[in-house]
Amino acid sequence: MDTSINSQTKLYTLVGYPVSHSISPVIQNSIFAAKQCNSKYITLAVRPESLKEAVTVLKENFRGFNVTIPHKQAIMDYLDVIEPKALLCGAVNTVKNDNGRLTGYNTDGYGFMKAFQKLNIEMAHKEVLLIGAGGAARAVLCELLQHHCSVTVINRTEAKAKSLQRELSGNFPGLLTVISDWHQLQARYDCLINTTSLGMEPNRSVSPIDSPYLSRFSIVYDLVYNPFETKLLAEAKRRGCMTVNGLPMLFYQAVAANQIWTDSVLPGKTEQELYEKTIR
Ligand code: ATR
Repeated sequence: MDTSINSQTKLYTLVGYPVSHSISPVIQNSIFAAKQCNSKYITLAVRPESLKEAVTVLKENFRGFNVTIPHKQAIMDYLDVIEPKALLCGAVNTVKNDNGRLTGYNTDGYGFMKAFQKLNIEMAHKEVLLIGAGGAARAVLCELLQHHCSVTVINRTEAKAKSLQRELSGNFPGLLTVISDWHQLQARYDCLINTTSLGMEPNRSVSPIDSPYLSRFSIVYDLVYNPFETKLLAEAKRRGCMTVNGLPMLFYQAVAANQIWTDSVLPGKTEQELYEKTIR
């Protein structure tokens, strides 16, 4: 792939901490190349305390950016406009810069559901256990609730899960439960979703749930993709669960973000080819 830039090149970036593990540049630069855009996508490590100053730099130098751990909620304070879906779930993963006017979007939920579609899994009306209550959890949760799933949330900081429940219960009455202890798990769930960074490099020996509980789930979905098979997914596989890693979601949230920045759609055949290359 041509990695050179010139005076006309439009720059995009991923902002997070850490970001060095990310494969978003590979995906985004492949999409830009397929669309024949003179654009480049890089990563920028931004510590939480530096986000405000970083936004000034981003406004001046980048046409758009993605936002990841731990900035998906904090970035909202610096945006001029937030689209309704991102407002509803309270998290932004994609920002478009129109001459200094920043608009926030959330494409995580789209990526998450598209991943299920690709695997021919129908997610409507399912019983789900969701681990985590951060920015990624918010997008996933909203999508599940909109698909009439009953969702139980467990998070290290229970207060964060409770606050999420208070925010969303009005729109989705009766569908959201928060538990504080693993002993409160139901006997069966259709799906377990890990939205935390537990198990991600360099902490690959960690799993967010004790292995014996995994036999209660049919599908185990880990949003982590580095390593491709986390300890959670390896243990779930051993217990006979269907497993899905974070790559399909990562790919489709990227496709949607790129469409927002470029106002152009990838041809279906090209999208499929890039998807297969990504998840291989
Ligand atoms: P993201 O935007 O990617 O979701 P985030 O908003 O920082 O990132 O959220 C990270 C999630 O992982 C949170 O649910 C966090 O739990 P807390 O709310 O208690 O902080 C969870 N998480 C991160 N490290 C964890 C750890 N070591 N043990 C348990 N949960 C952890």
